[in-house]
Amino acid sequence: MKRAAIITASDSGYRGEREDKSGPAIREILEKEGYEVVAMELLPDDRAMLAGKMQEIADSGKADLILTTGGTGFSQRDVTPEATEEVIERRVPGIPEAMRAYSMTITKRAMLSRATAGIRGTTLIINLPGSPKAVRESLEYIIGALDHGLEILSGEAADCAAK
Ligand code: MTE
Repeated sequence: MKRAAIITASDSGYRGEREDKSGPAIREILEKEGYEVVAMELLPDDRAMLAGKMQEIADSGKADLILTTGGTGFSQRDVTPEATEEVIERRVPGIPEAMRAYSMTITKRAMLSRATAGIRGTTLIINLPGSPKAVRESLEYIIGALDHGLEILSGEAADCAAK
């Protein structure tokens, strides 16, 4: 079973001032797709804390996929892409490119998401935007293609010929 961890980056969520609806939205989509959700974290928009948590989860080997939500916009506190870039070893630009290309057919504001994605060890890390609507639109579009990448990453699949 594919294992996934979810990290919500939200100052107001962390302070208990706003209910996190995006983390649960991700969970619902992942479970529908057959993923086991092994961790759900709610952190403030703090670069060191976000990078530390991504590194801890990836290096523990407990998740094949880490999805973050929030902190990809232009606010001074939006630092999720920078935290992600600190921990990834190889960039996967096609995933955020695909999310933005599809999302732009829904709202031109999709171009304002600075989301990134990459690989640390055998864990794929992907930033999603913050709102539950944006999460659903972005994740539902990309999730079907992730399986094959995760199989290659874990060594379960050796080539792309059959796909
Ligand atoms: N992507 C989709 N699919 N749908 C959306 O409604 N909202 C955009 C963008 N991406 C949106 C989207 C908006 S308004 C912003 S500001 C950016 O994501 C960044 O969001 P974040 O700061 O919550 O991460």
